[in-house]
Amino acid sequence: MSDSLAVAATQKILEQKILDRRARVGIVGLGYVGLPLAVEFARAGFSVTGIDISEEKTRRVNAGDSYVGDIPSSVLAPLVEAGKLRATTDFSAALELDTINICVPTPLRKTKDPDMSFIVSSCQEIARHFHAGMLVILESTTYPGTTDELVLPMLSKSGLEVGRDFFLCFSPERVDPGNPKYQTVNIPKVVGGCTAACTEMGRLFYSQALERVVPVSSTQVAEMVKLLENTFRMINIGLVNEMALMCDRIGVDVWEVIDAAATKPFGFMPFYPGPGLGGHCIPIDPFYLSWKTRQAGIEARFIELAGYINGQMPHFVVDKVQGALNDVGKPVKGSRIHVMGVAYKRDIDDLRESPALDVLLLLQRLGGIVSFSDPFVPSLKLDGTTLEAAPETSVSSADCVVIVTDHSSFDYAGLVDRANLIVDTRNALKGHTSKKIVRL
Ligand SMILES: NC(=O)c1ccc[n+]([C@@H]2O[C@H](COP(=O)([O-])OP(=O)(O)OC[C@H]3O[C@@H](n4cnc5c(N)ncnc54)[C@H](O)[C@@H]3O)[C@@H](O)[C@H]2O)c1
Repeated sequence: MSDSLAVAATQKILEQKILDRRARVGIVGLGYVGLPLAVEFARAGFSVTGIDISEEKTRRVNAGDSYVGDIPSSVLAPLVEAGKLRATTDFSAALELDTINICVPTPLRKTKDPDMSFIVSSCQEIARHFHAGMLVILESTTYPGTTDELVLPMLSKSGLEVGRDFFLCFSPERVDPGNPKYQTVNIPKVVGGCTAACTEMGRLFYSQALERVVPVSSTQVAEMVKLLENTFRMINIGLVNEMALMCDRIGVDVWEVIDAAATKPFGFMPFYPGPGLGGHCIPIDPFYLSWKTRQAGIEARFIELAGYINGQMPHFVVDKVQGALNDVGKPVKGSRIHVMGVAYKRDIDDLRESPALDVLLLLQRLGGIVSFSDPFVPSLKLDGTTLEAAPETSVSSADCVVIVTDHSSFDYAGLVDRANLIVDTRNALKGHTSKKIVRL
């Protein structure tokens, strides 16, 4: 068979399997990104295998017991019972798969350099069980060039040729945990392949399960899209945090300023100040870009500056608490300080990079007696010791309450009644007027 006929044959076979739902779908990494994706493909009628190194997660998936807030067990369990979704820690399952989406973590090292170890180890495992006719899509957020420069060589060691014998793409994950309006299925999916045939295969694959697919010309473009989106957010949050610092200094209410500015029907998009950045994306992803561009001789100055300002916010919150306690004649040392909400954002359970951890630690180091309430977080580790959540009613016995995460279920009116002093870093008490409220 000629080369072009071989390409056409491999492509046709996989296309047909995808179109008639016979393609066996694999998702590597069953976390906040991977599990919802696995569920969407199972719902679309595919047979899905999740592969994760965590025994605990695979056991829970196989028991239909969800650990991801956006996926109720009532959605997961029927898919598992119907045999549409299963999970394993055994990478040899890849031998039977036609497609693999890689959704493993991409944290930063202490030096703020990308930690690619999860991508490398999962790709090494995939490479051991790799076979012709597969579509592999990297979804983990990473620096531009990763798919072509790091993943492709690992898979090409098999002797198979990309775009001919197998297909490789990058598709940024845009999931927004806790967002009831936009979930995996209705967030447009950008995809770029190593070759035009790869992009087309990626487009065809996602369009079976997701509402809208946006193909782009290369893996690098797709990788850069995610970094632009998250850098845009990080820098705008940095800008508005700096506005908050300036407004505080000159005695202007930054929240009122933003609300009024947001009435402009064009050319303005409101961002809100807060206690600092959190989560596995916004505080981290832009540094993947600055790391890459530094190698090309370009300093990402906006990113570094916004990173600095955002990093100062927990200190600013602590200054506010100190000032508020001073005004009522109490030092932080020995005062009971109760933090409301410790997850990095509203209505989710994710503590990763949460600024609440910095706020608690800084206050504890100043001698404050700290406690917290969070309906999603039963306990956390602070300086090596475990701190259990306290009931929301603890606010009455605290010298100062700090609202760090504005979960919807908190009783804000009750809080204003019962608390002695409140530092509100999220404007959660908008509309409440009381001398005991100190706003960011
Ligand atoms: N959480 C979000 O809101 C979000 C949004 C957009 C993009 N992302 C990106 O998606 C990627 C995944 O993030 P997440 O939040 O789902 O992470 P997560 O920690 O919730 O999930 C990752 C999963 O991968 C598993 N894992 C680690 N190493 C593995 C390996 N070698 N083989 C198989 N499984 C392995 C872990 O056990 C875990 O279950 C990251 O690159 C992140 O930046 C996350």
